[in-house]
Amino acid sequence: MLRGKRILLIIGGGIAAYKSLDLIRRLRERGAEVTPVLTRAATEFVTPLSISALAGEKGYTDLFDLTDEAEMGHIQLSRVADLVLVAPATADLMARMAQGLANDLATTLLLATDTPVMIAPSMNVRMWEHPATRRNLSVLRQDGVTVVGPNEGDMACGEYGPGRMAEPLQIVDAAIMALGDTPLAGTRLIVTSGPTHEPIDPVRYIANRSSGAQGTAIAAALLSLGAEVVFVTGPADVAPPQGVELIRVDTAVEMRAAVMAALPADAAVFAAAVADWRVVGASDSKIKKVSGSFPTLEFAENPDILAEVSQLEQGRPGLVIGFAAETDDVIAHATAKRARKGCDWIVANNVSPETGIMGGTENRVTLISAQGAEAWPRMGKDAVARQLAARIADALV
Ligand code: CTP
Repeated sequence: MLRGKRILLIIGGGIAAYKSLDLIRRLRERGAEVTPVLTRAATEFVTPLSISALAGEKGYTDLFDLTDEAEMGHIQLSRVADLVLVAPATADLMARMAQGLANDLATTLLLATDTPVMIAPSMNVRMWEHPATRRNLSVLRQDGVTVVGPNEGDMACGEYGPGRMAEPLQIVDAAIMALGDTPLAGTRLIVTSGPTHEPIDPVRYIANRSSGAQGTAIAAALLSLGAEVVFVTGPADVAPPQGVELIRVDTAVEMRAAVMAALPADAAVFAAAVADWRVVGASDSKIKKVSGSFPTLEFAENPDILAEVSQLEQGRPGLVIGFAAETDDVIAHATAKRARKGCDWIVANNVSPETGIMGGTENRVTLISAQGAEAWPRMGKDAVARQLAARIADALV
């Protein structure tokens, strides 16, 4: 899906430079051609020889290498790429970029380029949080640079916090999005979203706090990658995205029917917060208050749409993705849920009130698949959606 795309990969001098070896492999696996450029400091961490061997191309290091100038001038080198990717982007490299310095080959290329630039920052947590780095980051963003990561976690220096370079696959996903590819063109996906409302009587219902924001963002991200999206939504707060095939439902039973009718599909994402139970014999007329007595509600179990679709013997989508909204033991519960329901991936998140995730704009998810659990950093629901959509495209294509 990166076939025919050329990526100029600028490798900065940080410990995360070792991940750039894997990054080159991942980019090439997806068809990209990678032209590597190492800063002088980067050569202290990885050798131009190993970088060139993996890239299958010369690794450039020196601005004043006349042979290089004869082969391809630095201006031309900066223009042949579809994307300039800086990984790892060290604090120093970010500062020089923000200043517009051109004091080595990497920064000269960055100043001379007219192609989109993406950085994957990597540095000690205090350097990341320093006002100078915040300032530089904001300048770079204003200049149109896109940023992937950093992630939070244990750092090589022994500290913990944000500053770890994004994982190679995360960077690949971001590159796919940045290149505006439509790898999902010709595919059909179903997305469920929002809460369901289970009526008690014509004016009362049982609901939950889902706003529909995450499901809506996922549908929009899939659309932007060229997918045809059937969007089955309960009564959400957030407006559905333009361009989907929209099916509005109220109850879990209606949602199930809509999903079944929308099959076949290449993949299905179950982001809806479906009520587990419905009221048996919901009243057709408003239940009147009778002083001193309370109505007793009897419940029946709702169909589990995710489990049913995951376990279809015929017509099962190639990729079935569920969500697991948990308040404790998130990974353990979500891993068990994946096995129980039979879906391929579970996007797990902690929806305890103190996280502010349910109904909020940010999310912090862990993607659970057959390969294990992969924690993503806390980010906007749109960013989670874009990353998930890119990962779906990766799996389907
Ligand atoms: N789901 C579904 N149909 C249901 C219930 C849930 O399709 N009747 C889907 C949701 O869209 C989500 C996943 O199953 O993708 C998990 O939902 P969740 O409410 O976390 O799981 P439950 O199975 O309800 O488990 P529990 O409430 O015990 O955590």
